[in-house]
Amino acid sequence: MRILVTGGAGFIGSEYVRMLLGVPGGTASGVPAVDPAGVTVLDKLTYSGNLANLDPVRDDPRLRFVQGDICDAAVVDEVVAGHDVIVHFAAESHVDRSIAGAAPFVTTNVLGTQTLLDAALRHGTGRFVHVSTDEVYGSIDEGSWTETWPLAPNSPYSASKAGSDLLALAYHRTHGMDVVVTRCSNNYGPYQFPEKVIPLFVSNLLDGGTVPLYGDGGNIRDWLHVHDHCRGIALAQQKGRAGEVYNIGGGTELTNKELTGLLLEACGAGWDRVVPVTDRKGHDRRYSLDITKINQELGYAPSIDLTDGLAQTVQWYRDNRAWWEPLKAAPTA
Ligand SMILES: NC(=O)c1ccc[n+]([C@@H]2O[C@H](COP(=O)([O-])OP(=O)(O)OC[C@H]3O[C@@H](n4cnc5c(N)ncnc54)[C@H](O)[C@@H]3O)[C@@H](O)[C@H]2O)c1
Repeated sequence: MRILVTGGAGFIGSEYVRMLLGVPGGTASGVPAVDPAGVTVLDKLTYSGNLANLDPVRDDPRLRFVQGDICDAAVVDEVVAGHDVIVHFAAESHVDRSIAGAAPFVTTNVLGTQTLLDAALRHGTGRFVHVSTDEVYGSIDEGSWTETWPLAPNSPYSASKAGSDLLALAYHRTHGMDVVVTRCSNNYGPYQFPEKVIPLFVSNLLDGGTVPLYGDGGNIRDWLHVHDHCRGIALAQQKGRAGEVYNIGGGTELTNKELTGLLLEACGAGWDRVVPVTDRKGHDRRYSLDITKINQELGYAPSIDLTDGLAQTVQWYRDNRAWWEPLKAAPTA
């Protein structure tokens, strides 16, 4: 089986590639081994893409890396040919950046996905796994979203992800393409670009700096280790039903203030290092996923406890300054 992974040099996509190629510690427990004949990564290497994320598998002869834009129809057409499966991670992924400027989000997330879907349709690719997000559902005060919940995204990021998510499902309904969509909650773990809250806070704290806490700190997110997200995607890739959506979550719901407390403790810092800042515009209050479907149909359950996962993650950032220091120093516009 030949698998094309878009955005495979990013945070989650690179974990998926490391997992597919069986990096020790990266093999997913509870997921049947894939042992692919080849894994191609198509990645533009934007500010958040980083070839160093693929260092552990760099010398694997099954890996091919192509630097290219998913919006470039000619490149996409050439790369998609000969693949049995596409797992589509490539996206502009940071909500704050989408508030500052939505254009790259619409271009990459919507047009890029459509370009990939068209190429997959032309080449008769076996399965297209579209990696979406729980943010497409909007915000929920009580209870949890099932997959049939209407989409009501609030940020330009989540609106562009909702557009691509619905396009992928439309290609299944219209053209009969073998599409599966996954919608996951907030991820944490190693190799996450240090603009996202956990690596930003940890790296700032390890550097002796302060951390910015939005608004009243009461916004609630469901946190899941990136490895568990990738286990869920692997199950959807291998056993999911065509045309179906699978929520992946079931980590732990925390307010941003609670999360901040855990990170301060893990880094040996006090609340004097926290600077309250004006809330994010349109900040969703709470995300919460119902994962009954993926649990019952595909046998998925998260495997990494948040306390252990956070401790391992903080340790990884302690041990890998050489990975994140240049990223914090470089301009990312
Ligand atoms: N991070 C989360 O908590 C989370 C949760 C649920 C879903 N997701 C989704 O998972 C996917 C991966 O997220 P991430 O956190 O790894 O993001 P990331 O920003 O770390 O990685 C995105 C990758 O896509 C590449 N890319 C961007 N634009 C491209 C383009 N036009 N052509 C080719 N490559 C391009 C980047 O270079 C980078 O390697 C995204 O689709 C995101 O919406 C993320």
